[in-house]
Amino acid sequence: MAQQFTLTSRIKLANGLSMPRIHLGVYMTSGQETNNAVHCALAAGYRAFDSAQMYRNEREVGSTILQYLSGNSNTSQLQREDIHFTSKLASNSSYDAARKSIKQSVQECGLGYIDLFLLHSPYGGKTARLASWKAIEDAIADGEVKTGGVSNFGVKHLQELLASKPRFPPAVNQIEVHPFNTRTEITSFCQQHDIVVEAYAPLVRALRMKHPVISLLSERYSCTPAQLLVRWSLQHGYVPLPKSVTKDRIIKNGEVAGFEIDAKDMEKLDGLDEYLVTDWDPVDAD
Ligand SMILES: NC(=O)c1ccc[n+]([C@@H]2O[C@H](COP(=O)([O-])OP(=O)(O)OC[C@H]3O[C@@H](n4cnc5c(N)ncnc54)[C@H](OP(=O)(O)O)[C@@H]3O)[C@@H](O)[C@H]2O)c1
Repeated sequence: MAQQFTLTSRIKLANGLSMPRIHLGVYMTSGQETNNAVHCALAAGYRAFDSAQMYRNEREVGSTILQYLSGNSNTSQLQREDIHFTSKLASNSSYDAARKSIKQSVQECGLGYIDLFLLHSPYGGKTARLASWKAIEDAIADGEVKTGGVSNFGVKHLQELLASKPRFPPAVNQIEVHPFNTRTEITSFCQQHDIVVEAYAPLVRALRMKHPVISLLSERYSCTPAQLLVRWSLQHGYVPLPKSVTKDRIIKNGEVAGFEIDAKDMEKLDGLDEYLVTDWDPVDAD
């Protein structure tokens, strides 16, 4: 029987908490466009949002969530705890800079705390990475952040962080993963160390929607190419962050419960790997 991934399905994290299986990405959205996308996603049943200091939309995401929770559209009586908000540190430098920056993010989103806070990249070198991680740990200890994680970390960065014997090990590594860039080395390491992989650019930035294998399998499973890609991510155990500002797409991208990609077709999709990078690629940074 197909595993029922819905917008309310959750995944367990190593720290004992859990988070939704599918998050709305809000990269490259701003102002009213962000407000509309977040509102529309909440109404469609999304419970998690992936923002970042660099996206400059923490305020819009947070204020729309708060407005939704207190408004008439909130027919399910959702509370703040039912919503999961992620942000990320723009750059790694000193402990003090990171600590201050996390506090600013908490203020900016207005949500009282941040559910998941990530180091956005490994850039800055070892000293800056470890100092910034310590700032996340202190923010967790002070109740400003619930869970800490990293993004764009390669295996060597994860090994370095784990070797530092962190008080709170990273629960998440958010990296670019999709059938056209499977990053097996990193995903295997994460799975071995109980680090949940969040898949960014899960729709391949819409660059491969018409690829013959994607078209063939979408037809076979009577789904859209985007649904096929979201489902591939979920079946690998990842947490996909599909981004859209288009109402119909937001709704449809989250409707992936009705089919299951069989093992042979999962292999076929895995075989499409061409190390396609749609954004930046800091996983090998010093
Ligand atoms: N940690 C990092 O360094 C990092 C880097 C990149 C992204 N991210 C996160 O991951 C999220 C997702 O990645 P992404 O935004 O780069 O790419 P993505 O989700 O793979 O693709 C988004 C693109 O696909 C289009 N799209 C959405 N649904 C579609 C559908 N059903 N059919 C056709 N096209 C569709 C969107 O257009 P419309 O919006 O016009 O619908 C947009 O152009 C980001 O928003 C961000 O939260 C993190």
